[in-house]
Amino acid sequence: MAEDYEPKVVGFCCHYCAYSAADLAGSMRLEYAPNVRIVKLMCTGKVDTLHLLKSFEDGADVVFVAGCEEGDCHFLEGNLRAKKMVQQAKKLLEEIGIEPERLEMFHIGASDAPAFVAACNEMMERAKRLGPNPLKRRVLV
Ligand code: FES
Repeated sequence: MAEDYEPKVVGFCCHYCAYSAADLAGSMRLEYAPNVRIVKLMCTGKVDTLHLLKSFEDGADVVFVAGCEEGDCHFLEGNLRAKKMVQQAKKLLEEIGIEPERLEMFHIGASDAPAFVAACNEMMERAKRLGPNPLKRRVLV
């Protein structure tokens, strides 16, 4: 593995929960991996398998989707739809020889900043363990 490997983590976060938890983590001065790029969505139900795969193609080493707790989605079942998209994308990754654990879905409440931090750190740990994503087409800036 290259010594200068700096893992890139992309997190698709719901405005109502995970994004709020990320904001709160900042206010609480909780530390988490600095290489996490957050993509804010109104609901994780907007995430498509294509967005997840494109993130890998564009340079992410690991990707996560963080939505509301099950039963708490502001758009009823958006987080359940996202969960299905993540499962589908994991299967596709596996089929092309990419470790499916490079992708994960989390359910994080708006006030659960420690859970957001734990999710970021978990994904960073996976990125370090798995090494650079072999699908990288160009470097994420
Ligand atoms: Fe948060 Fe749907 S509003 S996942």
